Amino acid sequence: MTQTSTYNPEILSVIGKGLSGSPKRLPSWLFYDEKGDKIFQAIMQMPEYYLTSSEFEILQTQKHRILRHIVGDNEASNAVFKLVELGAGDGTKTEVLLNHFISQRIDFTYVPVDVSEAVLTQLVSRLNKSLPDLKIHAKCELYSDALESMKNDTSEKKLILFLGANIGNFNKEEAITFVKKLAINMNENDRLLIGFDLKKDPRLILAAYDDVEGITRDFNLNLLGRINREFGGEFDLDLFSHYPYYDPEIGVTKSFLVSEREQEIWIEALDKFIHFDRYEVIHTEVSQKYDLKMINSLASQAGLDIVDVICDKREYFADVIFKVKR
Ligand code: AVI
Repeated sequence: MTQTSTYNPEILSVIGKGLSGSPKRLPSWLFYDEKGDKIFQAIMQMPEYYLTSSEFEILQTQKHRILRHIVGDNEASNAVFKLVELGAGDGTKTEVLLNHFISQRIDFTYVPVDVSEAVLTQLVSRLNKSLPDLKIHAKCELYSDALESMKNDTSEKKLILFLGANIGNFNKEEAITFVKKLAINMNENDRLLIGFDLKKDPRLILAAYDDVEGITRDFNLNLLGRINREFGGEFDLDLFSHYPYYDPEIGVTKSFLVSEREQEIWIEALDKFIHFDRYEVIHTEVSQKYDLKMINSLASQAGLDIVDVICDKREYFADVIFKVKR
């Protein structure tokens, strides 16, 4: 009883609704507690998870081209801008750009935005060590709030980064709503760079979400582990399995947790049992893959124009640069 007040009420309500509905569904942002963050780091190192290495290649080989979109050739020495990163994570990929901009003596401020104070603190202390000359102004806010508060400051243009194919974890309608919100907070000279995972051999895509070592399985199951740890759940993780599938017609990978038997699971914070039929699933993640037609349609529905499409050599991934429609 005394523990009730320590349960996060917003997350609890999401879990309660998600497990009471049919089909059962939990949002993928629930993956990312401390343990989930660590497992995701391991996913990014997996040979099957081509997304990270592909985007890394783009940033590494095309950093000059990216910089030119925000700083014209003649302005380089006196350019001032903000590099705003939405959902900064551990910043490993971004560090390629940060290093390059510093080496070019560009006067810029790095503004990582994240709702997690812990993520920002870790990132800032790491960058303070690796790049002592970097100006950092971290913002622990919702993306839209952070951009809104920066909109009126027109003294510095912005390059806004939304890397890592995070856009894919929204369904198509959510992605339009999200990008629209970014667009209304952009000024004429601002640029937005979004990382998209592209449609490709369906077998390659499926393998990225179904690795042989079972790291992605652990990532998916951690969601139940988190409910056990934080909300007094009694899930037996051995009685659930990881099931991803990719539908090439619509370019969507969906991940599920499958109940291997009929079971009743007690969740203390909900003060009730949740019933699972044998083979009943919880839908836990959508990872939308894009093609150019879809990216064009997203841009036009969100009020943006495409300025540049930058792909890796294998054309697995695209970092696309947008500006607001005039
Ligand atoms: C963070 N996001 C883009 C990853 C993805 O590919 O959808 C999360 C992930 N899920 C399973 N593997 C990686």
